[in-house]
Amino acid sequence: MVTLDALAAGDADWLAGFLLGSSWPYHAGVIDEDEVADRLRQGYYDGPDVVTLIVSDGSRRIGLARVEDLDDDSPTFDLRIGAEHRGQGHGSAALRELTRWVFDTHDVERFEGTTRQDNVAMRSAFRSIGFVKEAHYRRGWPTPDGRLLDAIGYAMLRVDWETGTSTPVAWDDEPRDDGVPDGPSPTGWMTRALRPVPPRSVDATRHGRITQSSVTA
Ligand SMILES: CC(C)(COP(=O)(O)OP(=O)(O)OC[C@H]1O[C@@H](n2cnc3c(N)ncnc32)[C@H](O)[C@@H]1OP(=O)(O)O)[C@@H](O)C(=O)NCCC(=O)NCCS
Repeated sequence: MVTLDALAAGDADWLAGFLLGSSWPYHAGVIDEDEVADRLRQGYYDGPDVVTLIVSDGSRRIGLARVEDLDDDSPTFDLRIGAEHRGQGHGSAALRELTRWVFDTHDVERFEGTTRQDNVAMRSAFRSIGFVKEAHYRRGWPTPDGRLLDAIGYAMLRVDWETGTSTPVAWDDEPRDDGVPDGPSPTGWMTRALRPVPPRSVDATRHGRITQSSVTA
């Protein structure tokens, strides 16, 4: 059982201690106290469309969840459990409560997160709550040691959260040679709108990669 409480003005020291007190192997760079203070001042943790919540297990503060793009239809988040509390079910429990909080308090259709391909615990947490994998960005997550790993995107739909269902992704809606999609399209729009697309050359310089700063969870 975990609870979520909004980060308050008096939590600055705790926040710095928490962030500096654990290693974050799936996050870029190492943060220091000055940077935490700067971010607090600049509204990184608390603003018009950003909320930061402290995760507690009933008696102790064990983690942190920062939700952003709350003015959008599809907010996203970063979830961190302190190193000594990982692997005990707290991350999954926190993600469940966080999802409940987002849908209960904001009029949004979706809640989404992206994680690094090798972040097995985060990916398992997504799946165990019922988030559906929607995206696989090949070589989309640069690591501090210069590798390019894949980034994986998951999302929960409000309708699925409220009804306990799981809407599948229409992966098979690419048109065949005759312009008809390979598989059923829930909306039928592909059948009406698409015609065969001739191959074209791609100017790689015009296609940016996901950057670390756009990857949040
Ligand atoms: C990712 C994170 C939030 C998950 O929280 P957690 O409390 O460690 O995970 P849980 O104990 O709830 O376990 C979640 C699932 O991952 C599995 N798991 C946990 N640790 C694991 C590990 N080291 N290796 C493989 N699987 C693991 C659990 O078995 C569980 O799977 P299940 O749902 O199939 O039973 C936490 O590990 C963390 O904060 N990591 C560092 C920050 C981070 O990477 N945040 C994600 C943003 S990119």
